[in-house]
This record gives sequence, C-alpha cells and structure tokens, in this order.
Amino acid sequence: MNNKKQKLELTWIGKDEELKLEPRILIEDPKKSYGDPKSENMLIHGDNLLALKALEQDFTGRIKCIYIDPPYNTGSAFEHYDDNLEHSTWLSLMRPRLEILRNLLDKNDGSIWISIDDDESHYLKVLCDEVFGRSNFVANVIWEKKFSPQNDAKWLSDSHDHILVYAYNKTYWHPFLLPRTEEMDSRYLNPDKDQRGVWTSSDLTVKRITEKDIYPIKSPSGKEFMPTSGRSWGVSKEKMKELIKENRIWFGENGTNMPRLKRFLTEVQDGIVPKTLWYRTEVGDNQEAKREINILFSDDPFDTPKPERLIKRILDLGTKPGDWVLDSFLGSGTTSAVAHKMGRKHIGVEFGEHADTHCLPRLKKVVDGKDGLALSETLGWKGGGGFKFYNLAPSLLTKDSFGNFVIDKSYNANMLASAMCKHEGFKYLPDENFYWKQGKSTETDYIFTTTNFITAEQLDAIHSEMKEGESLLVCAKAFAPECENHFSNITVKKIPQMILGRCEFSKDNYDLNIIKATEAEAEEANEE
Ligand SMILES: C[S@@+](CC[C@H](N)C(=O)[O-])C[C@H]1O[C@@H](n2cnc3c(N)ncnc32)[C@H](O)[C@@H]1O
Repeated sequence: MNNKKQKLELTWIGKDEELKLEPRILIEDPKKSYGDPKSENMLIHGDNLLALKALEQDFTGRIKCIYIDPPYNTGSAFEHYDDNLEHSTWLSLMRPRLEILRNLLDKNDGSIWISIDDDESHYLKVLCDEVFGRSNFVANVIWEKKFSPQNDAKWLSDSHDHILVYAYNKTYWHPFLLPRTEEMDSRYLNPDKDQRGVWTSSDLTVKRITEKDIYPIKSPSGKEFMPTSGRSWGVSKEKMKELIKENRIWFGENGTNMPRLKRFLTEVQDGIVPKTLWYRTEVGDNQEAKREINILFSDDPFDTPKPERLIKRILDLGTKPGDWVLDSFLGSGTTSAVAHKMGRKHIGVEFGEHADTHCLPRLKKVVDGKDGLALSETLGWKGGGGFKFYNLAPSLLTKDSFGNFVIDKSYNANMLASAMCKHEGFKYLPDENFYWKQGKSTETDYIFTTTNFITAEQLDAIHSEMKEGESLLVCAKAFAPECENHFSNITVKKIPQMILGRCEFSKDNYDLNIIKATEAEAEEANEE
C-alpha cells in the first residue's frame, strides 16, 4: 500500500471541488446608508462567499476579529433560513468561506470565533484545524445558552453551545484581559489599615516537600507554625523574614492564625484571564437574546439571535477600539450593533431578506442611540457614527442568446471600470485630471477601461500625456489591430475575452455546490 499520500484528514463528498469565484464589486445603495457619510462601516446584502471574495482585495490581513454564527445544520425549520443541510453540503459550504475569512485576518492580532452546537462542532473543529492550522487552535469555549432543562428532551437536555476560537497565528495573538468586576474587588479589605490599601490573603504553603522550606514561623503572639503535612512554605526562610518585615504576612486579627500572604489590589493584574466556561449570568443566554429581539422587533422576531453580552465578551477579548470586526452570517445584526457601540469598525454580511428587515433598522437605531437595549446603557452609548449599505453587483458577464459571454447590461461605465480593476488587481481610483487614469496597481501603473472602439490615434493622445516610467493597461471591447504593440508601455486587451476562463461567471448561488445524494442513495448508505 502506498502510504505517501496518506494524512489525517476529514473527507466528504465534494471536498475537492475547486471554486473559481468571480471577484464582484459592491454597489452602495445610498438610500439605505445611514449617519456619518464618512463612515467606513459596511452592511452587505448578499451571499457571503461572493461578498468575502469581493472584500479580499481591500481587507486582506486587516480584520482583527471575526465572529460567525453559521446555520448549525440541525435540521430544524427556521423561519428565516434553511438550516436543514446535509453534512457534506454543510462542510462544503463552510470550507471555502473559512479559507477566505482566514485571508482577511490580521496576521499578528487576528482571531476568529465560531458559534456551533454539538451536532457539527467536532467536524468543524477538524475542518478548522485544516484551514487555520492545529497549532493555532486557542480554545473551545462552552457557553451556557440555556438555564431551564428541556423536560421533553429525548436524551440529554443540552444547555450549552461551543465557541471555537482560532488565532491567525497563536504565537503572536493573545486575548486582552477581561475587566475586573466590582464583586471581585469587594473581596479586598483592609482590616489592619495598611497604607498600601485594600488586600486579600492567600495560602503560603505549596503541595510539595522541600526540606529547606519546612521551617517554623513565629507569629506575633509567640505561637509557632509549621506547614501542614505533605506541604512546604512557598518561599525560603530568608524571603519569609523579608515578607514579615515588610508587613506582608497576616496572622489574623489577634496574631494567632496560620500565616497567609497579603496580596494588595494595587499589585494584582489589571484584569482577569478569560476562562473557557462562559455562564449565562456573565454573557447572557438564548432567552436574553430573544428578549432583546422582542424589544427591537416586537412584530417580526428573528429566530436565532445571540445576546449582545456574548458578542461584547468576544470583542473585549479580541479587539480594541478602532479595530475591524467582521461577521459574515450577520442574522439580526447583533455583531455589527455591538461592535458599533464599542467603537469598533464593522462589516456585516447577510443574504436573507432580514438584511433589510432586521439588520438595517437595528443599525439605524444604534446610530440614533435609540436601540433601547441594556448593553447601550452599560456602555453609556448615546449614538453616533454611521454605516454604508451595499449590494453585490450582478455577474459582470452573462450569456447572450447565442450562448456567448457578453458584459451584463446593468453595468454602467463606472461599474465596468471598477469591476475590471478588481479582475486585474488594480485599486479603483479615478483621477480628476486624466480620464484614462481610472485605477492603479502601483504609483506608476494605471488601468483604463472603455466600451468604445480604440484607435491608434487615441493611444497617441493618451501616450502624449503619460510621464516617463508610467505604464497603462487598456481594457476595451474592441480596438484597431495597430494598437497592439503600438507603445511598449501601453498594453491593450479585449473584454470580455481577457477574463474568460479565469473564474465562474453568472453563478450567484454557492450554497448547494455539490450533488445531493438522492433519497435512494441515502437509504442505501444507511443500510450499509
Ligand atoms: C444563526 S444565524 C446568525 C444569528 C446572529 N448571530 C444574530 O445574533 O442574529 C445565521 C445567519 O446566517 C445567514 N446565512 C446563511 N447562509 C448565508 C450565506 N451564504 N451568506 C450570507 N448569510 C448567510 C442566515 O440567513 C442567518 O441569518
């Protein structure tokens, strides 16, 4: 048997299918954009695979924190989307998305957090190990999503979801500490009126036997103490003397208790190291999320929201103000809303109609400071900022009645110029003075797209305006034969031929990109 190619991996029907995604442009809908016109925040309506591909050019390596809450593949019929995808389809749906999401992450401080339940979490873990690297796995957070047991549960009533956490590079990425709570600080007191302020005490013994660290300590009352059996003092005799001299050892009010180490609040870490168990009392649960949705949309609730406090916890750990946050399964808009209120920049993608019916009005309320949710009060959020609403452009090429690819009629000149920039790796940046400078790939390399017929005379005119060292790519629907090699620094290419074959055009749905097993096949597989 040839073992060379064997490796530990998860396989499924359709895994090796390669997608050649069209890099679409995003078109702003100014009627739906809201608030500060300079805002960079984005709400995108469209399939997230194409939307993520569209974002790749501008956002590769720039996103600090990605949170996604994809359909769990549980088979329940939700009102707002089809969650009943079979396993291979689900994995095929997730993998290319995760691959682009990884590209978008900041190479030093980027992290991704994925909500999932028991049904798919273990498959997703293996898939994520493959995409992000097993060495970048950070944690599997257990979130207590439910309090009351489900008495009608057939087996065990599940009370938790998983949140899988990966860093782009775990060597560099570390979570921020969580803010200390009032309750934690209230455990610090000052019974001996120490000038260094409030303190709490901790055990001075350690669970090991080190002969030199087993010695008597005399308390102020004269009583002598030894470490309890099987243990030693945590510090040497000399160090202990120093600590007693500095009044850092506490023998109780009357000086008669087992010695303990005083730990001052001013000297403890300015935050808490996050744990992997997240209780509903700290970050909310499904019921809290439902209550929030009812406050926001009493007449049109959304079925599977997450509580705002849960997202706040993730953004507390993964970002600081001003960082970019992305959620490509935006649902009712929770991630964007929380990111906005926490002063983070945000991109949200949602393909359901609830981009319009839920995300849009929710974000408007946030901008107005009128969402009425508890987190706004906690954060002291009064409103401000804004966001832009985008739709995915249709495919650049469509087939005409003869089956030939032609430029889609809905593309105007600006859209076409912008789309060709994307295809050719140029930044769309029309110059006010030179009509032919529509975008650039470097400071001296430009692109010009036109649907007009290009003549050698036109190239002469453009060339006379070009400075030394500048180069230009002209994308035209048609051009005179002598345009080719007319100037060494001007390349002329024909659209659409120049981009055909590079990617798939006219494909809008990447959800069901594998052939579903027929019912008969499925039955057969079950019987085996
Ligand atoms: C579990 S919900 C997310 C809920 C969200 N966390 C919240 O708090 O409201 C998953 C969302 O992903 C969306 N979705 C599923 N497939 C998608 C796709 N291909 N592109 C964009 N959104 C998608 C669904 O429409 C649904 O709204």
